[in-house]
Parts: sequence; C-alpha cells; structure tokens
Amino acid sequence: MTAAPARPRLVGLGRGEFADRLDEAIDIYVTAMGYPRSTLRQRRSLWLEHSYRPGWRAVGWLDERNRLTGIGYGYWGGPGQWWFEEVRRGLRARRGDPHTVGTDWLTDYFELTELHVHPGAQGSGIGEQLLRALARDAGRARMLLSTPEYGHREPGRAWRLYRRTGFRDVLREHLFTGDPRPFAVLGRELPLLPPAHGTDHPTHTPA
Ligand SMILES: CC(C)(COP(=O)(O)OP(=O)(O)OC[C@H]1O[C@@H](n2cnc3c(N)ncnc32)[C@H](O)[C@@H]1OP(=O)(O)O)[C@@H](O)C(=O)NCCC(=O)NCCS
Repeated sequence: MTAAPARPRLVGLGRGEFADRLDEAIDIYVTAMGYPRSTLRQRRSLWLEHSYRPGWRAVGWLDERNRLTGIGYGYWGGPGQWWFEEVRRGLRARRGDPHTVGTDWLTDYFELTELHVHPGAQGSGIGEQLLRALARDAGRARMLLSTPEYGHREPGRAWRLYRRTGFRDVLREHLFTGDPRPFAVLGRELPLLPPAHGTDHPTHTPA
C-alpha cells in the first residue's frame, strides 16, 4: 500500500535537519536568485557556520512529496559579524540622510539572512508564511534584512513582500564590500501585524 501524499506544510528546522536538507536549500537559493552553481560549495560552509550563531532559527516549506521548496533562516545580529559591521559602516557614512536611520536600529535585532522559495512554488504566500514564522520566534525587538535594489526595474516580489509586511528603509543604495550591486537594508519592529489575507495559510497550492 502506498502512503497518502503529505499535506504541503511549514516546518521548523533544527540544526541537524537543516544540515541534512542543505543541498536542497542551497539549490532553491541559487535557482531563485539566478546565481551560478559555482557558488554552491562556498555557501554550504557559510550556511552551516551560521547555524551555530546565537538566536539561529530556520524554517522550511515541504511539498506533498516532502521536498523542500522554501527556506528561510536568520540569527541575532551584533558587533563582530560581517553584516553588522558593513551596515554600521554604511549608517555612519550616511548620517543625516532622510532614507537612513540611526545606528540604534542595529541593536536587539534578528537578521533575516536568507529567504527563498523555489520559482515553481512562488506566488502563493509561502514566502510570507516563512517570514512570519521566523518573526514570531525571533526573540528580538526588530528584524533587519538586506535585499538588492531594483534600480530602474519594477520592484519584484521580495520588495512587495517586505513592504506589505511593514518593512521600512534603514539604509538605501548600500554597497557591501565585494559586491558591485547596491542593496537596501530594511527593518521593522516586531511583532509583525496580522496578515492582510486574513489567514495564516496559503489559499492555493502552487503549480
Ligand atoms: C521573495 C520570495 C521569498 C517571496 O516568496 P513567495 O512565496 O513567492 O511570495 P509571497 O509569500 O510574498 O506571496 C506571493 C503572492 O501571494 C500572495 N499571498 C500571500 N499570502 C497569501 C495567502 N495566504 N493566500 C493567497 N495568496 C497569498 C501575495 O499577495 C503575493 O502577491 P504578489 O505576488 O502580488 O506580491 C520569493 O519570491 C523568492 O524566493 N524570490 C527570489 C529570491 C529572492 O528575491 N529572495 C529574497 C532575497 S532578499
């Protein structure tokens, strides 16, 4: 007798499960972001190292065949971390800019490090579910993230998601060391407001 297909669902991932699912998770990341597969190995060791940081939490979305189709994780940010130091440098350099907040925003925060949904599963609310699950258990007063600026293109799905959930500008057009693309740093106080959709579950299953 064959087992009935499982219901697509959101799951918390402990460090061991995260390590077991790492290849799947990074595959989603390179596919969703359109990055070269040559970045896989370097990402693997970085993501594993992140999973030992204080406040680390990861969530995943499993489809009806138990395949990972969405991944999100983050941890408590603070001095000494590469991202913290890069953002603090940017904030200090732009003191007084109307799109820039004070460095006090860089305290008591959970850094949303990665959030990706496989392209075949995008567009039905999985990303928002993952974001909300991480925000619920963040254990910090605010959440911060960085995402590529959209330049002259229309803002994409990531931007719509962050704006819809109330993220505001912390630092715009920021250049992280070693990356030529400008990034926006966005943040918001926690908790998040309840979903506008009025449900905590996607209403339709992605194709
Ligand atoms: C950004 C990303 C994580 C968002 O995840 P997603 O599951 O595709 O998107 P959302 O959860 O925002 O939902 C998508 C749509 O479903 C709708 N939706 C949200 N919750 C819903 C619900 N409960 N029921 C029905 N529809 C819902 C949203 O309104 C949204 O509409 P939009 O496309 O007009 O914005 C994903 O698109 C992705 O991986 N993109 C590429 C990688 C990337 O940019 N990552 C972020 C880098 S910082």
